Amino acid sequence: MEIPGFFSEKEKILTYDYHQIEELLHTEYDESYWIENLSIDKPNLVSKYFQSILLGYNHLYISSLLNDLNNPSANLCLPLLHEWDGSPKISNLIIISHPDDAERICKMHIKKTPVFKELLNTSIISTTDNKDWKEQRHSMTNAFLPYYSLEEIFPESLKRAKHCSDLLVHMSEKYSKPVNMSEFFLNETQAQLQKALFGFSDEFEEKTNKRIRNVFAGIETEYLSEFSELALKETMKSNGPASKLFHESKDIEKSIGNIILFAFAGHDTTGHTLTWLLYELCKHPKYKEKLIQEIDHYWLNYEEPTYDSFYELPFMTKCIVETLRMWPALANGTYRELEKDDYVIGHNNEKVELKKGTYCQIINWTRHRNPELWDDPDTFNPEREFEDSEIWHEEGFGGYNISSDRFSPFTYGPRNCLGKNFSHMEMRLILLYIFKNHDFEFEEKQRLTINDPKYQGVNTFTMGPADVHGEGLLGMYVYLHQRKSKL
Ligand code: HEM
Repeated sequence: MEIPGFFSEKEKILTYDYHQIEELLHTEYDESYWIENLSIDKPNLVSKYFQSILLGYNHLYISSLLNDLNNPSANLCLPLLHEWDGSPKISNLIIISHPDDAERICKMHIKKTPVFKELLNTSIISTTDNKDWKEQRHSMTNAFLPYYSLEEIFPESLKRAKHCSDLLVHMSEKYSKPVNMSEFFLNETQAQLQKALFGFSDEFEEKTNKRIRNVFAGIETEYLSEFSELALKETMKSNGPASKLFHESKDIEKSIGNIILFAFAGHDTTGHTLTWLLYELCKHPKYKEKLIQEIDHYWLNYEEPTYDSFYELPFMTKCIVETLRMWPALANGTYRELEKDDYVIGHNNEKVELKKGTYCQIINWTRHRNPELWDDPDTFNPEREFEDSEIWHEEGFGGYNISSDRFSPFTYGPRNCLGKNFSHMEMRLILLYIFKNHDFEFEEKQRLTINDPKYQGVNTFTMGPADVHGEGLLGMYVYLHQRKSKL
């Protein structure tokens, strides 16, 4: 049986008869088994779940299963079809939505499942060998430290952010056409990554930015190996902190995995977060006005942004954190393999034992939208009360990971996101510049879909907004207006 995967042609993914997957149940390919108080009895569960993954709505499918159980905090055991060893297998995957289990499982079981191995080989995010991960983490940490590294590259990041307004005016054909802000932000975050973090040349960035993003959107995917080769060569000529990570590397497979990981996770996550943030601001103009006022005050005090003055934008911080809650770019969170026997909370609220080797997914989406954990979780409210540990403090750039038992946009330590501070820095700069002389409002078709439950995010590895015009997979269209500060 030929089974489509993420990298299959779009047509095949859309037209495949998923129901035939049920035939694999109770055969040699099926390693799943019933776990009392975690498993659920649903017709066609294996095919429906697999289909939801490939079509990018597994976060919504899992939410619907929790709804059926009438328990938004329930952990679930689902039969996952995968080909991690090269042939099809159905394995149990424990989807953790209970806030008492999420952090503990991440901290105690660092070993990853092989979910990203096919694409990223033994990169830092995909290696299933803890010793290898520790060594990579140790060698990469300095490149992301707020004062050791980020302050150094701040001028490059700033230089690129200054170019945002001109690009927006160009994309809007001088304010006459709507702008696809998903495209704009993904372009800018790829440029920030290449120029500031890697220190790549303008020429390299211009030549590769769109093409490598196309690969991640499933277009001209054969360019990936050419890009990896060119980018690794470019690191040898560049002195940005991320380039230096590759200078001494002797393991070519690992380097290829890491360069692809950076090119993807290092721009896509931040690009989607900015897109969702602008989406919510256009949906809630009163918060947009409040942010604009804060930004205008900032520009009154500073001719140019400085690394040490970012903390003077507390409402911007709240908007970013609320966006990371509602629209976590990695809605799927993280996938772990239990390193020893452990337990999670079952449907009867008692501990259920799990064996060493069990696969777990510590999903972000369900906890971030859980009505037992948040007031009115489906509404964007940057003024909501965050716990102290969930928000960056107003004391300059913190090097810590914002998280709590109900919230983990960058997952939990020690295997949390390395790029979170870089991403925070570039988001603030880009927001400062795009709002400096401009305002935004939804384009007509975009506005018409804001309450349509169909447009809840396309979740293929990362989660972005579906393109309402159908021009590509992702899109978010707004009109750009000139404005002057009222201060
Ligand atoms: C808003 C932006 C971002 C979000 C929400 C985010 C989220 C995450 C999450 C949830 C993980 C854990 C994934 C897993 O366990 O499978 C992760 C890991 C990682 N992220 Fe990010 N990320 C963001 C930006 C970035 C950027 C800009 C970079 C690099 C420039 C980056 C580099 C990494 C790396 C290297 C890891 C692997 C860490 C390890 O395994 O030790 N991320 N990120």
